[in-house]
Amino acid sequence: MTETWTPASWTSLPALQQPEWPDERVLKDVSAELSALPPLVFAGEARNLKQALAKVSTGDAFLLQAGDCAESFRDFSADGIRDKLKVILQMAVVLTYAAGLPVVKVGRIAGQFAKPRSSPNESVNGRELPSFRGHSVNDDLFDEVSRVPDPRRLVRAYNQSAATLNLIRAFTKGGFADLQQIHTWNQEFVAGSKQGQRYEQIARQIDRALRFMAACGIDLDKDSALHEVDFYTSHEALLLSYEEALTRRDSLTGDWYDCSAHLLWIGERTRQVDGAHVEFLSGVHNPIAVKLGPSATVDDVLTLAERLDPQMEPGRLSFITRMGASAIEEKLPPLVKGVKESGRQVVWICDPMHANTFVAQSGHKTRRFDEILTEIKSFFAVHGQEGTVPGGVHLELTAEAVTECLGGAEEILDHHLVDRYEALCDPRLNARQSLDLAFQIGEMLQTA
Ligand code: PEP
Ligand code: CO
Repeated sequence: MTETWTPASWTSLPALQQPEWPDERVLKDVSAELSALPPLVFAGEARNLKQALAKVSTGDAFLLQAGDCAESFRDFSADGIRDKLKVILQMAVVLTYAAGLPVVKVGRIAGQFAKPRSSPNESVNGRELPSFRGHSVNDDLFDEVSRVPDPRRLVRAYNQSAATLNLIRAFTKGGFADLQQIHTWNQEFVAGSKQGQRYEQIARQIDRALRFMAACGIDLDKDSALHEVDFYTSHEALLLSYEEALTRRDSLTGDWYDCSAHLLWIGERTRQVDGAHVEFLSGVHNPIAVKLGPSATVDDVLTLAERLDPQMEPGRLSFITRMGASAIEEKLPPLVKGVKESGRQVVWICDPMHANTFVAQSGHKTRRFDEILTEIKSFFAVHGQEGTVPGGVHLELTAEAVTECLGGAEEILDHHLVDRYEALCDPRLNARQSLDLAFQIGEMLQTA
């Protein structure tokens, strides 16, 4: 943090990927409105996540961070949120069971509404329009009016985040996440599949273990760990006006926290050391993360670490690497080595999605299940070689039976992509593919 840090100090630095709002006065009004609204998360919760991540950094827990690439204003329902939660809870059970480690659960949810874009424009059938930048900026429909950025969308993003979080809190603390409900997390679409049946086996074994504990006289009702789950939220801190408006001073410690989510990350396109995004996140006390693509150098990484975590605080800083299945074995080792030699203990997270995206013949953006798996395997292998900790995975998934990523046990092929392609931005694993992946990561954790 610079000595002159304030929630607004980022404004004097270059901020990439910010929308060109047609009327800055409306943005100002919206910022004032958001600044007066209640925080979405609380500083104490962000501190709890930081402690949990400190355990991840030493290999005493594993992180599962997952959700949509971009949340949608249109696709917003209690069932949708519940089903996403089910998949993540199921994956977490599989990982916990395999690794015998606590799994820290973080959603790309309740705030993941803004997207950085590689190109400012998008063309369809020869017609060019400004790119879709997430529902907190503009609309994905391909017409001129829809693509005009509207700051009032930020208020809607705040409200949808609040409603989503409200439901997540109710589900995770109000009985739904009870281990005795474990069978009900297996959704119809998944239950009949091989992975679904494998999950059922684990669920039955957990049932048996619970009955055994009860028979031994342990009062299961008393232990909240069996009935509740800590579930944290995260999103890319892209739109700095929004993040600034939700930044509050914690009344207990006097420190600043970005209360839009528990964890915020800086994307691959906005991680410039002298840029606005790094300046902004350097001053808030949340746990934070930075995405690192194949162009990241050791020097970049160490400078970022110095700027964002000068105190070397456990759990403060995570690096989410997204190198690509074919590049990771070459690109990741020097970074991991450099950080290790600096004496830092960061959290290393594998995002096997963002550097394995390509456009299929049908024109759909897609990813191959096998390449996703390969990148994760290499991530484990590199950390094994370097003696560092493979801390977790960062995934884009949905509970719906979509056909957006190729392969997996049910073999989604090129010509299936058209069947059910609903992603607003990047292609997501469906619930079966996600569970399949969890079993395979579980096996890697057992031998790590
Ligand atoms: C994303 O997480 O959706 C994203 C855009 O990632 P990255 O910054 O790694 O490209
Ligand atoms: Co994405």
